[in-house]
Amino acid sequence: MVMTNNSASAISHPNIAFIKYWGNKNEKIRIPKNNSISMNLDGLETRTRVTFGIDNEADQLVLNGEEIDGEGRERVSRLLDQVRITAGISDKAKVESTNNFPTGSGIASSASAFAALSLAASAAAGLSPNIKELSKLARTGSGSACRSVPAGFVEWFAGQTHEDSFAASIAPADHWDLVDCIAVVSQEHKATGSTGGHAIAGTSPLQEGRVADAQRRLDLCREAILSKDFKAFAEITELDSTMMHAVMMTSTPSLYYWQAETLRIMQAVQNWRMDGLQACFTIDAGPNVHVICPAEHSAQVAELLTKLPGVQKVLSAKPGGPTKLIPE
Ligand code: PMV
Repeated sequence: MVMTNNSASAISHPNIAFIKYWGNKNEKIRIPKNNSISMNLDGLETRTRVTFGIDNEADQLVLNGEEIDGEGRERVSRLLDQVRITAGISDKAKVESTNNFPTGSGIASSASAFAALSLAASAAAGLSPNIKELSKLARTGSGSACRSVPAGFVEWFAGQTHEDSFAASIAPADHWDLVDCIAVVSQEHKATGSTGGHAIAGTSPLQEGRVADAQRRLDLCREAILSKDFKAFAEITELDSTMMHAVMMTSTPSLYYWQAETLRIMQAVQNWRMDGLQACFTIDAGPNVHVICPAEHSAQVAELLTKLPGVQKVLSAKPGGPTKLIPE
């Protein structure tokens, strides 16, 4: 046994998917049913420090200053176990993590959490994985975390096995000046997390159709991003989000992530677009609405959103960079 007593810190951004991941071919190692496409969110961040070699029987997890036990800590331990096996160490670790955005309300905190954890833990254990290896490792903690590893606009190639399911950048962060204006209507932790949701996706009679049509939507979205065609991007992004929510609402048990405010914002955004404002919505597993627009319209979109009933605040994020190490 090699004792390390080393620590490392990493920073990662959450990401918003334009073509969504919902449902797995392999639940255990999170091999998804379909590819997905996303953008990292600059300014929103998880900072994680991992220290191996602590004098404790179990790994320790401190999230936003609060000690976490139970399933949350076990999920972190399972990822640390993989790093320990690769590095040939057996030390327990202390993981200290902070988010600068609300946890558990559809702003993908698990994505940045597991991406930052994967890099900090690997570096603390003396490993230096490349982007592909890191993306695969992050995926096992939370599927969408694999997309927070590479920079900018990212595609997750579903693959069939652990070896070929990973994400890669399709365009750098400065490729397209988009802004995600996140209308926060709730900061509460969601009742059913995405892990439970993925497991029941197949119970919806709509899931098969959503997956069968995924390649078409992926091609349209990727092409719209590469050619910066906002109209095409808006149409396919809204369609994909609503198809995922249709699956959620028609699964057993049914999952309704939308609140009344959520639908009101969706309708407002579509009306603004009909009036010529370039903006579109997408929603993850929570009630908050991500309104995507070109940077030149973001001040107006944020102001309009703030005036809608039930909108507590609006967070704005530009395309973000990759997961990276930061000085201790
Ligand atoms: O990575 P997970 O298990 O948190 O799943 C993410 C699911 C969605 O956010 C709803 C969609 C996506 O592709 O990010």
